[in-house]
Amino acid sequence: MRAADARVLLTGASGGIGRAIVLALRESGAAVMGVGRAAESPLPPGTGWVRANLTTVDGLAALAGAAAGWRANVVVHAAGVPSFGALADTSPAQMQAVLQANLLAPMLLTQALLPSLRRLPKAQVLFVGSAVGRIGMPGFSVYGASKAGLHGFAEALRRELADTPVKVQILGPRSTRTAFNDAAVEAYNRATGTAMDSPEVVAAALLQLIESESAERFLGFPERLAVRLNGLLGALLDGSFARHRRSLHAGPLQPLSGENAT
Ligand SMILES: NC(=O)c1ccc[n+]([C@@H]2O[C@H](COP(=O)([O-])OP(=O)(O)OC[C@H]3O[C@@H](n4cnc5c(N)ncnc54)[C@H](OP(=O)(O)O)[C@@H]3O)[C@@H](O)[C@H]2O)c1
Repeated sequence: MRAADARVLLTGASGGIGRAIVLALRESGAAVMGVGRAAESPLPPGTGWVRANLTTVDGLAALAGAAAGWRANVVVHAAGVPSFGALADTSPAQMQAVLQANLLAPMLLTQALLPSLRRLPKAQVLFVGSAVGRIGMPGFSVYGASKAGLHGFAEALRRELADTPVKVQILGPRSTRTAFNDAAVEAYNRATGTAMDSPEVVAAALLQLIESESAERFLGFPERLAVRLNGLLGALLDGSFARHRRSLHAGPLQPLSGENAT
């Protein structure tokens, strides 16, 4: 739909990508209701704010009520938590927290909001997925699983709701310069030649996705190509990740001599 007609409920609005999305949406005339855990809104004046912890039953219920009352017609799921490192170094509690925040919370919020969205003439649900949700990368087994789940959920729901007013869409950013990525991820990106986008690039793509109503979009080259190849010939790409493996096991503070390694 046109941004000017959108009333967007945005989770993750206080984050690096979320704030850029707020600005892009507001500039194009959309109304925005941001969601986060802070008591005070960190968003520009004129932007709505709901305090909610998406990983609690109470937080989800309060948010679903607020969104329906406000007549949100676009829901953008941009809240998320990171997880980077070898599986052996990831605790069971961390795995649970990542799956809860990145996968279960958006699934439950979508389920809670669908009855009110389906009553509108037109509505959109957009998920912020990730390139590593479609390309399995060393170091991102847990985070990638949460995002792969989100991509699978969005695809199935898109087909399930095809004859309703609700469009389901997903954006797959590549690595993006926000506080989400710590020094270890930045070192891994440098060592593996992985480019990072600015949050503004992601926000512009999300705005375009709202307006185009397309099903999905991945950002960046070669990531977009890799997503396609991986879908067709995943096993053939298995040999392409030696640098990533080495960089993962080298740890965050190693010199970046891997940059030119093959
Ligand atoms: N940065 C990247 O490299 C990258 C790449 C691809 C995809 N993504 C995805 O893009 C989205 C935004 O990432 P970002 O870089 O903007 O991250 P960020 O700066 O760390 O922001 C994370 C956001 O998620 C919210 N959040 C986390 N747990 C929450 C909870 N339990 N309840 C409510 N809100 C919660 C945070 O709100 P609080 O203020 O309450 O903490 C914050 O607004 C995420 O889904 C991420 O997976 C990021």
